[in-house]
Amino acid sequence: VTALKGQYPHFMLKEIHEQPEAIADTIWSLATLDPPALYFDDLGPAADRLADIERVVLIGMGTSLHAAMVGQRYIEAFAGIPADADNASEFRYREPVLDDRTLVISVSQSGETVDVLEAMAVARQAGALQVTVCNTAGAQTTRVADGTVYTRAGLERGVASTKCFTTAVVALYLLALRIAQAKGRLSDRELALHLHDLAQLPRAVSEVLRQQDLVRKRAVSLAAAQHVLFLGRGLAFPVAMEGALKLKEVSYIHAEGYAAGEMKHGPIALIEPSFPTVAIATRHALRTKMISNIEQIQARGGPVTGVVTEGDAELTALCDAVLTVPAVSSWLEPVAAVIPLQLLAYDVAVHRGCDVDQPRNLAKTVTVE
Ligand code: G6P
Repeated sequence: VTALKGQYPHFMLKEIHEQPEAIADTIWSLATLDPPALYFDDLGPAADRLADIERVVLIGMGTSLHAAMVGQRYIEAFAGIPADADNASEFRYREPVLDDRTLVISVSQSGETVDVLEAMAVARQAGALQVTVCNTAGAQTTRVADGTVYTRAGLERGVASTKCFTTAVVALYLLALRIAQAKGRLSDRELALHLHDLAQLPRAVSEVLRQQDLVRKRAVSLAAAQHVLFLGRGLAFPVAMEGALKLKEVSYIHAEGYAAGEMKHGPIALIEPSFPTVAIATRHALRTKMISNIEQIQARGGPVTGVVTEGDAELTALCDAVLTVPAVSSWLEPVAAVIPLQLLAYDVAVHRGCDVDQPRNLAKTVTVE
C-alpha cells in the first residue's frame, strides 16, 4: 500500500494531485478539440433518444450528489430544459413524476451505492430513460442504465472522494453539451468555445495545487474551530456543500454548507469570533452579493476566509484571509474552487491527527441502507 501512495503520505492527497490528469483524461475520452466534436461511445440506445427528452432529473449521494447539483445547472443552461438534482435516498421513497421523456442521470463513483440503485429501479419502473455517470467499468449502475458516461479518474481509494467529484462535473458538462446538441441548441462554434475553456482546466487545477503551503497555513488556524460555515451562491453553492462535507468527513469538525442567500434565515445567528466562515466568492459566483454576505459576517465578528479569483484586490483586502484560484470560465469555476477546499480539509485533518484515508464510521461505498 505504501508503494501505491508513491511520494504521498495519504491516498487522499495523492488523489487530489491526480486531478489535472484525471480531468484531462475524462475530457479527451469524450471530446476532441480538432475538429471540435463530442464522442460518447457508451451511450448505447440512450444516444438516439436524447433529442426527445423534455426534462432531466439527476440523482446521487454524498459527493456525487454535489456533482449532480452542478450538472443540473449545466443542463438547464446549455440544453434549455428543466433539470433537478435530488438525493437518491429521498427520490426512491417518493413517487416521483417521470415518463419516457424524462432522462434520469445517476452519478456514482462506484456504481454500487444502494440508494442510487434503488432510485434507478424506481426510474426504470416509470419508463424513464437512464444514463449513469460512473467511474467503475461494468459496475451495477452501468448495467441498469440505458447508457453510461465513464469518468476516467482511475481507482479512488480515499474514502473522501476528490478526483471523482471533479471528473464527474466535467463529464456532466460534456453530457449537457451532448444533450444540447441533440436538441439542436449547440452550434459548432459554441461547442468549440466550450472545448477551449475545458482545455484550460487541467493547467488551472495544477496552479491551485501549487499553493498547498498557503492552504496549510490557513488549515492551522481552522484546525482549532469547532464549527465552520461554508457559503456560496449559484454554481458555488454545491461547492460550499462539498467543502463542508470534505471537512466533516476527514477532520470531524462540524461544518455546514449553505446557499449564502439563506444567511439571514438562520445561520447568521451562529456567527461570533470563534465561528469561522469560508466564503466562495470567485469572479462569476455572484461576487457582489457574496461581498455583502462577507461584510455582514464580519460586522458580527466572524472571521472569513475567501476563495477568490487571483488578482481580486478588493476581496483580498476585505477577507481576513484568502485562497486564490486562477481565472477560468464561469462554468468551470466549481472545479477550480473546490480544489483549495479539498486541500484545506486534508490539511486540517492531518493537523488534528485524523486518519485521513479511513475516517471513522465511513465506508467508501455504501451498499446497505
Ligand atoms: C460514500 C462515500 C462518498 C461518496 C458516496 C457516494 O458516502 O464515502 O465519498 O460520495 O458514498 O458514492 P458513489 O460511489 O455512489 O459515488
